Amino acid sequence: NHGYLMIKVKKRKILLLPGDGIGPEVVGEVKKIIQWFNSNKSLDFEIDEDLAGGASYDKHGTPITDEVFYKALESEAIMLGAVGGPKWDNLEFAKKPERALLKLRKELKLFANLRPAICFKQLVDASTLKPEIVSGLDIMIVRELTGGIYFGEPRGIKPIDNGERKGINTHIYTSSEIVRVAKVAFDLAKKRSNKVTSCEKSNVMESGQLWKEEVQALHDKEYKDVELIHMLADNCAMQLLRNPKQFDVIVTDNLFGDMLSDEASMLTGSLGLLPSASLGAKNKDGKMRAMYEPIHGAAPDIAGKGIANPIAAILSFAMAMRYSLDLDKEADDLEKAVQDVLDEGLRTKDIVSKGTKEVSTTQMGDAIISKLQ
Ligand code: IPM
Ligand code: MG
Repeated sequence: NHGYLMIKVKKRKILLLPGDGIGPEVVGEVKKIIQWFNSNKSLDFEIDEDLAGGASYDKHGTPITDEVFYKALESEAIMLGAVGGPKWDNLEFAKKPERALLKLRKELKLFANLRPAICFKQLVDASTLKPEIVSGLDIMIVRELTGGIYFGEPRGIKPIDNGERKGINTHIYTSSEIVRVAKVAFDLAKKRSNKVTSCEKSNVMESGQLWKEEVQALHDKEYKDVELIHMLADNCAMQLLRNPKQFDVIVTDNLFGDMLSDEASMLTGSLGLLPSASLGAKNKDGKMRAMYEPIHGAAPDIAGKGIANPIAAILSFAMAMRYSLDLDKEADDLEKAVQDVLDEGLRTKDIVSKGTKEVSTTQMGDAIISKLQ
């Protein structure tokens, strides 16, 4: 009686796109962890792996092939490493490695990019800021990811009369683009400390003024119980260094979010620690498209040396388990394993300090797996 004996576990398709630079090294550790969950937790993740970014350009002449793009469309979660590097700097925009990432974000409609900045207690000394400023820090940056100046038209470099050229990009937001990402921020805040700081440049940009008005209107209509603060983006950059613990959820546009999240990462000690999730809208059956990636880049200068920190990538997979795969408990376990390894004093080069032990990328991955055991 086959059907009776077989325990049906749904196969979840996960697409790994390691990309360039340190991407393959850190995603390699994620792969080990997924395999560990498959063999020890009777999970049945189906892993596929393919090229994106410069690696894809080198082999296929394009940063992402249609085939890979369709695989991405069909998978429940995409784990991306990083793309880019000096080798491909001089390519035209359409061929640059970054295009792979931007195409996935835009065409999968991953409009909400969640970038948590949490300062682990074991690492307060790794930050360049004073321990009392950063200890206990827990910020969630919600960056709009499919609009603004990254995608606005017209764009390009064009000749003008006097032999000069002009570079053009357009910063543009519609009401609905603003509202849907602000909703994500307010909903997250409700589960956290109930405070949203919305950042724009409404003092100089019309799109910023619209941003502010729409966020306020949404607040007044649906989220009166959440505290809302409007802050100019430059002030936010300053406040993040002056008193970062005033923030709970920060919601901002694509470009400001790019910059503020890099800044926030340094409050936590290293870019090598921060995961991110890029989420789309939920469809009718409650599923949503999603891509997970460390917020650090390809770091070509340290690629291939075995010193990259895999924690950001591993924590990105924890976010995938939580947001895409309905595995809250497993996500907790994985985050706890990371904490345990840090407690033990193991550190990759980027966060090593006196009294701690430096380990390689793979040793860090192995140590985290041994804590899961
Ligand atoms: C990021 C990166 C990307 C961005 C690059 C690689 C295109 O900096 O995810 O923050 O600018 O969005
Ligand atoms: Mg960035």
